Amino acid sequence: MITKRADETTSFIVMDILERAKELEREGKDVIHLEVGEPDFRTPEPIVESAIKALRDGETSYTHSLGLLELREAIAEHYYNKYSVNISPEQILVSSGTSPAMLITFHTLLESGDKFILSNPYYSCYPNFIIGAGGKVDYIDVSEEDGFEYDVDKIKRAITPRTKGLLINSPSNPTGIIYSKEKLNEISNIPLQYIISDEIYHGLSYSEDDREHTILEYCDHAIVVNGFSKTYAMTGWRLGYLIAPKNLIRPLQKLQQNYFISANSFVQRAGITALKNTESYIKSMKDTYNIRRQYMIQRLKDMGFILKVEPRGAFYVFVNAKQYTNNSKDFAFQILNDIHVGIAPGIDFGSGGEGYLRFSYANSQKNIERALKRLEVYLKKIN
Ligand SMILES: Cc1ncc(COP(=O)(O)O)c(C=O)c1O
Repeated sequence: MITKRADETTSFIVMDILERAKELEREGKDVIHLEVGEPDFRTPEPIVESAIKALRDGETSYTHSLGLLELREAIAEHYYNKYSVNISPEQILVSSGTSPAMLITFHTLLESGDKFILSNPYYSCYPNFIIGAGGKVDYIDVSEEDGFEYDVDKIKRAITPRTKGLLINSPSNPTGIIYSKEKLNEISNIPLQYIISDEIYHGLSYSEDDREHTILEYCDHAIVVNGFSKTYAMTGWRLGYLIAPKNLIRPLQKLQQNYFISANSFVQRAGITALKNTESYIKSMKDTYNIRRQYMIQRLKDMGFILKVEPRGAFYVFVNAKQYTNNSKDFAFQILNDIHVGIAPGIDFGSGGEGYLRFSYANSQKNIERALKRLEVYLKKIN
């Protein structure tokens, strides 16, 4: 018998869609992928070069469990240069992606039965991290009418003696919203023990008014989780980190030592290059995403999808598709099977996402155009 915990872990539906898409591709079908949150760009060349060099130089051993000091220094410098916050390398733990950073964070913070607040919709994996660590989730519904943003009064009303904290994700997956500095400040003043801020989409915001802000500008009781997957087009490299108050680092480090030992050594070396030497590459990817974003927003609206909250960050458009479906999972599989276009169903992001679809523009303009054309013809046919 498997555990109740394992049994109750929900599947990451978008990965199920992707796996079905791969099956169709093996049958020779031309599938267009707008489902996965994965950059279509190759990792910038200087990053690749420095990993190769590190391998050639024999950097193939375990590193310090907190990560290479040079990388932790580069992360601290990055946060200082970008947000003017002073953090020390002793507050940083380098992990094999943002996901493991979240795993050890929740295992460190939650006693069995402790609660953590999440927005609904949310990034699909969050509840499983919390529940897997023995915690419970209190969801705060966020709707397109409120710009998909947390209502601070609702959060305050949801706090119980067992509430350990709240998670924010800005720029957000799936909605693409970005919290203003005023809102971040307001959230950071809510009396909570901890705020976890998932900053993985920092670097991917498209409006001049959206200078990104880290939660660390506003409070000290925050844990930032971040990674290289999205902004640096490094999903398969598996590199991330967390920034935490100093008193949490030793407990986090013990979990890291036991579960993962350390992040990959040569990948960490490449991470230093990513932070220091890729500005022009990042800018060029971001400019390209922005062109696709604008195109996709307009096209989806023209096709009749409702989009009250235009995404300003990350690489997703989250549209209301309730005129077509109340079962986004079946609908996404139906679209995949019938016209070979992969889309993430809103239900993957919680009950608040039902009736929505998430389109990723991390694919070429040409493929986006082809996919949306197929979808347009299809929707006319089935209506
Ligand atoms: C909001 C969010 N956080 C974390 C992750 C996982 O990132 P990583 O590849 O660093 O584990 C993702 C990936 O899609 C994400 O969208």
